[in-house]
Amino acid sequence: ESLLFTRVNKATQALPISFEDWEQKAREVLPDGPFDYIAGGSGAEETLASNRTAFSKWAIVPRMLRDVSRRSLGIELFGQSWKTPVLLAPVGMQAIAHPEGELATARAAAAAGVPMVVSTVSAHSLEQIADTMGDAPRWFQLYWSNDREVCASMVKRAETAGYSAIVVTVDTVLLGWKRRDFRNGYSPLREGKGLANYISDPIFCSRLAEVNMENAVEEVLRNIYHPTLNWDDIDYLRQHTGLPILVKGILHPDDAKIAVERGVDGIIVSNHGGRQLDGAISTLDALPAIAEAVEGRIPVLLDSGVRTGADVVKALALGAAAVLIGRPFMYGLAVAGEQGVASVIDTLIQELDVSLALSGASSVEELNSRILVRV
Ligand code: FNR
Repeated sequence: ESLLFTRVNKATQALPISFEDWEQKAREVLPDGPFDYIAGGSGAEETLASNRTAFSKWAIVPRMLRDVSRRSLGIELFGQSWKTPVLLAPVGMQAIAHPEGELATARAAAAAGVPMVVSTVSAHSLEQIADTMGDAPRWFQLYWSNDREVCASMVKRAETAGYSAIVVTVDTVLLGWKRRDFRNGYSPLREGKGLANYISDPIFCSRLAEVNMENAVEEVLRNIYHPTLNWDDIDYLRQHTGLPILVKGILHPDDAKIAVERGVDGIIVSNHGGRQLDGAISTLDALPAIAEAVEGRIPVLLDSGVRTGADVVKALALGAAAVLIGRPFMYGLAVAGEQGVASVIDTLIQELDVSLALSGASSVEELNSRILVRV
C-alpha cells in the first residue's frame, strides 16, 4: 500500500518512471550536444544496443511458495555493509546535464545510501563532492594520467577526503569513435567542463607555465589518453594506496585472471556503456566467463545497460556482486536535478525489491543462475 502511495505522489509530480521516459524528457530539456554526448555510444552503436538486448536473452524462471515476506537487498563489499547492490557509475562533467552537476547527484546518493563513484573529470572537485556527502559511501574513479605523480596526488586526496576505494578505468587508452559528437562538434572536455580535480591539484598545476583554463585543457588532453597503460601501472597504484583497487572495463576472462593474480581487489565488467570499442561484447554476455575465471576470489561488478529491477536480478544471478548505473541517473539529473536522481534511484531499488520477491528470493545472496534460462 505504501508503495502505491509513493507512486501516486510521484505521478502527481509528473516525474517519469521508465528509463525510456526519462530519456525522452532529457532529450526535451537538453541541447543536442550534451544530450547526444550522454545518450550516444561509439561507432555504429552496436555495443550500446547489445548491452540492452543481452538482458532480454535471459529469462527469469521464478520460484514459488518460498515466503518472501522478509527481504533484504543488503550486500557486503570490502568489509562494508550497504543497503542495496546498486552504485552510481562514474560519469564525468555532470554540469553538462544540470548546473549543480555532481553536487546534486552526491546529495541524492547520500540520502539514499547508494555509493557514488566520483569521476576524475568531474565538474566539481572531489573534496567539494565529499563535503556534500558527509559520511555517505563514495569511491574515486581514476583516469590514468601519463604523469604518474598526478595520479598519486589525486589518489592521496581521495583518501584524505574519505573515499573508500579507487576505481581505475582501463578501457579509455584512446577516446572512442563518437559519431554523434563529431556531427554536433561537441567536446565537453575541450570546453573545460571536467577540470575541477586538475586545477585543484598542486602537482598538476606545477606542470603549467601559468594556471589558466586553456593551459589546463591542453595539459589534461595531453595526459588523459595513455596508450602505454599496462599492468605495471596498476602495481604503481598499489604502492600508492592502501584502499581497495578495482579495475573498470574488463571484458575478457584472461584479464580477469591477471587482475586477481596482480592483487586487484575488484573487477567492474564494463564496456563504458557502449562508448569505447564498438563491436565489443555486451557486459551481461561477458559476465559468466569472468565470474567463472575469478572463482569468487574478488567481487565482480557490472555496468552498461542496467535499467530495471529485473536487469539487476539477472546480473546478480549470473555472478555480479553489484551493478552500477550511468545514463539513468544522468537523465534524472538533467530533468529534475537532485530530485530526479533521487527518483531514479528510488524507482530502481523498489522495482528490484519487487523483482526479487517475485523471483522467489528473500535476499540477493540467494540469486544464482539456476533461476535463469537463455531464450
Ligand atoms: C561515462 N562513463 C565514465 N566512466 C568512467 O570511468 N569515467 C568517466 O568519467 C565516465 N564518464 C561518462 C560520461 C557519460 C556521459 C556516460 C554516459 C558514461 C561510463 C560509466 O561509468 C558507465 O560505465 C556507463 O555509463 C554504464 O552504462 P549505462 O548505465 O550508461 O548504460
